[in-house]
Amino acid sequence: MIPTTSTEPLQLDYDAYSLGNSLLIHADCFEWMSRISECSLHAIVTDPPYGVKEYDFDQLEKRSNGKGGIWRIPPSFDGHTRAPLPRFTALNEKERVTLRRFFVEWAKLAVRVLRPGGHVFIASNAFLSQMVFGALVEGGLEFRGEIIRLVRTLRGGDRPKNAEKEFIDVSSMPRGCYEPWGLLRKPLPTGMKVSDCLRRFQTGGLRRRASGLPFEDVIESERTPQAERRIAHHPSLKPQSFLRRIVQAALPLGEGTIFDPFMGSGSTVAACEAMKLRGIGTERFADYFAIARKAVSRLAALSVRESTQPGLF
Ligand SMILES: C[S@@+](CC[C@H](N)C(=O)[O-])C[C@H]1O[C@@H](n2cnc3c(N)ncnc32)[C@H](O)[C@@H]1O
Repeated sequence: MIPTTSTEPLQLDYDAYSLGNSLLIHADCFEWMSRISECSLHAIVTDPPYGVKEYDFDQLEKRSNGKGGIWRIPPSFDGHTRAPLPRFTALNEKERVTLRRFFVEWAKLAVRVLRPGGHVFIASNAFLSQMVFGALVEGGLEFRGEIIRLVRTLRGGDRPKNAEKEFIDVSSMPRGCYEPWGLLRKPLPTGMKVSDCLRRFQTGGLRRRASGLPFEDVIESERTPQAERRIAHHPSLKPQSFLRRIVQAALPLGEGTIFDPFMGSGSTVAACEAMKLRGIGTERFADYFAIARKAVSRLAALSVRESTQPGLF
């Protein structure tokens, strides 16, 4: 049986905060996803802890003490102080196995809670995407491609460490200029066509832009603007301009519920609110949950680049 689309039964017994169409829940997503009714959600849009452990409580403590751990302080080559970034390349073999297992188990739960045909948009990075997407497929999701978010990051492009002068014409790896987002889907029931899936579950396809053009898989993006960072102080805050395009595409008929299991400061839910869609987020770290409670309505109220406004999509 497919549950109704009201968010109320999804709160269960967790501390939660509702605003507009949306609901923020202070919960571990693994636990919450195993407890709610099956097939409750239409889409997932999320930015998970890529290195799995960078959001463990001990690592967050090291980050706030400036003590490192998996968080590294980028070099200050132009007089500006930069925020710590997680070191994905620092994962050893054992941690990679753990990471894979994390995403296999998570995908099984995503298959449980999504309606058939429900899409998953999941942020990744160029080091780990092949492993993460493979694990998601192993967990039961169908790979449907990638969204390339064009954005210049600070990673990569450096000369070999401690031999910079010797190998002046060499970079260890390319300068990062994009962020890959996995696009996956809960498989449609055998023999079911997309049109049938849309009729029965309101899922299966992607919403076109208001112009009638299809959603495209390369999106010119930007680093998260300062105005958004001032509202939501989270190390992995994603920009509203990008997220609003993603959430708009995620519900093919413009109806249903979008879930962000790793909500952080609530940027995905804010994008849903801005686009007049229903969003639900879970966050297990109390400090980030508290930030999200305050930030979502303020992020949603921001006007961003014209092309991301609801009527102009
Ligand atoms: C990469 S950040 C997402 C940040 C978000 N994109 C934003 O704009 O604020 C991942 C978040 O997932 C949270 N997290 C990690 N494991 C979790 C779990 N099992 N359940 C719920 N939240 C979790 C972390 O505390 C962190 O805030």
